[in-house]
Amino acid sequence: MELKGRHLIEPSDLTVEEMEGLFDEAERIVANPESYAEVCKGKLLATLFYEPSTRTRFSFEAAMLRLGGKVIGFSEPNSSAVAKGESIADTIRTVECYADIAVMRHPKEGSVLVASRQSDMPVINAGDGGHHHPTQTLTDLLTIRLEKGGFDGITVGLCGDLKFGRTVHSLIQALTRYTGVRFIMISPQELSVPEYVREKIRKSGMEFEETHDLRQSLPKLDVLYMTRVQRERFFNEEDYIRLKDRYILDAGKLKDAKPDLMVLHPLPRVNEIAVDVDSDPRAHYFRQAKNGMYVRMALLMALLGVKGE
Ligand code: NCD
Repeated sequence: MELKGRHLIEPSDLTVEEMEGLFDEAERIVANPESYAEVCKGKLLATLFYEPSTRTRFSFEAAMLRLGGKVIGFSEPNSSAVAKGESIADTIRTVECYADIAVMRHPKEGSVLVASRQSDMPVINAGDGGHHHPTQTLTDLLTIRLEKGGFDGITVGLCGDLKFGRTVHSLIQALTRYTGVRFIMISPQELSVPEYVREKIRKSGMEFEETHDLRQSLPKLDVLYMTRVQRERFFNEEDYIRLKDRYILDAGKLKDAKPDLMVLHPLPRVNEIAVDVDSDPRAHYFRQAKNGMYVRMALLMALLGVKGE
């Protein structure tokens, strides 16, 4: 799979065939990681994180290091010239002088797209505000594919903050490009999906349902995608406090779920999945975090035009 020189801003930047190619490569890496240990030798990844991150940044860094490449970057923008008022455009043009590829996370929607337009080096969106997070989606889809073999005919429940949750917007956008997926979107009214996301599902012709009721929806689901209420995107703390514990998945509720349900979560979790779920075989979220590294290895190779062994 070669995507040499391309940017990744939203899942729709990739065709279904390209996504499947990345999953195939990721599965080959899982099966034989040693043979990839040097394929990115001499390549440099820049990680530009204007917002906190654990999994996305570490998995990208681990991915590049495990491919034999190197990493530079910041996780605290105040340690860079950003603190002096440098624009994103100037930052990316500078980073391009040193690195071969960049990953950027920023609180403002559209900012990574703006950066990518200034850059000949591939730029990957690691989350732009409440908009998109395409590499989390690659992680989510690989995890489902490894377990279910594909996406045709599955019912996917998305629960929590569907308004500000960028992982939700990206996951829905990607799944609407497959066939036969059914969506059940579970949220308080105030945190329901933005209209543009709803419109995307309508256009795809896929079935969807919007509800407030997790308990009632649970037995119908093949995948339950839990999300954290995105505190940092709220305008006031009172609304956050009122809504934050609306949905808590615990072992008791899981009794009504299918035996082969997959519980996914992009993480970090706050309260929305009780720790008593962690030992249930249906809890896939830590395996999901691990898959994120493998699919990012495949993505870095593809965007850099590097072939596997
Ligand atoms: C998500 C994000 O940053 O959007 N985290 C992640 O990358 N795994 C989800 C979140 O912060 O709730």
